[in-house]
Amino acid sequence: MSAVLAAVDLTPFNTLALPGRAAAYLKITDPGQLTVEALQDTRRFVLGGGSNLVLRGDFDGLLLHMAIGGRRLLREDAEAWYIEAGAGENWHGFVQWTLEQGWPGLENLALIPGSVGAAPIQNIGAYGLEVGERIHSLQVWDFKKKALITVDRKGCHFGYRDSVFKQHGWHTDGRMVIVSVVFRLPKAWQANCRYHDVAEELAARGIADPAPRDIAEAIVAIRQRKLPDPAKLPNVGSFFQNPVVSRDKCAALLAIHPDMPRYPQNDGRTKLAAGWLIEQAGWKGRDLGPVGMYEEQALVLVNRGGATGSDVERTMQAVQEAVRDGFGVELIPEPVFL
Ligand code: EPU
Repeated sequence: MSAVLAAVDLTPFNTLALPGRAAAYLKITDPGQLTVEALQDTRRFVLGGGSNLVLRGDFDGLLLHMAIGGRRLLREDAEAWYIEAGAGENWHGFVQWTLEQGWPGLENLALIPGSVGAAPIQNIGAYGLEVGERIHSLQVWDFKKKALITVDRKGCHFGYRDSVFKQHGWHTDGRMVIVSVVFRLPKAWQANCRYHDVAEELAARGIADPAPRDIAEAIVAIRQRKLPDPAKLPNVGSFFQNPVVSRDKCAALLAIHPDMPRYPQNDGRTKLAAGWLIEQAGWKGRDLGPVGMYEEQALVLVNRGGATGSDVERTMQAVQEAVRDGFGVELIPEPVFL
């Protein structure tokens, strides 16, 4: 088992490549490490793949770096496969492995950076699927109850980029640590190509009746085209959530911008495209100091080199202000701030 390390540089552990040190650092490879008494009363933060994190600077607490591995078929019944994976497994590697095993259902979430354990926290979603739709249950270490508990899908309270972990702030206060996830992948598989970009990419490849691997490959190609590789241009994917506005607000905006992209929700409200708003506000491909908005996808904030957490916050606020001034819409950041 690994030991607690002091003053660990976190730059390599966050995909925005922001500088900062953790006063104490512990790599978690086994759930048993979480039960140690010394961990109970310290300020904690759980780090997964670091692909949804804005590091403001040094962290004076204990950073728990999730590295619990393992993946297996837990059981199957007539309707579905139940697959369990350790929270520290790399997300994309896990998706690819399920496809290789012949268990489809996660292909629309291919190539999303990050770890298995982080996926339910913000209910990662892309190309017409949210991970919550495929989650059966989670194993969670609860520091308050000092027990390993099971949270079923209903208990996760999934919403758009939202879950019970975010709703209660457990993702930042270190109370709950997800140690493993059980996915339920229905055997009655159906291709999900509703998303316009996916249908277009498959058509361009001449594929009319796609297999799960075809969808994964199409989505990998779309993501590689639109989203910068964090290893080359540090980023955390979409930096803001797509804002959801009232019917009246949407109507007022449409009167001025009839071509505005919009996605009506079940509750009568409408989701707008933050990338479109940012582009219209003049921020696509624009920088402020070392931090800017990506030229191919205005929703992606990038570190052009040498940025700090303050540089990120400065650009973030400038973009929020431009969209507020231009559209009267408030943009909410997607990543976690530490
Ligand atoms: N758009 C612009 N300009 C831009 C970017 C987008 O006008 O610079 C317009 C597009 O033309 C389109 C609309 O905005 O009409 C939506 O764009 P896109 O399909 O690229 O998706 P998105 O809403 O920007 C969301 C997710 C992504 C996910 C894609 C595909 C959020 C915050 N983002 O992006 O998730 O991959 O859909 O499903 O919901 C992430 O969360 O990190 C992420 C990458």
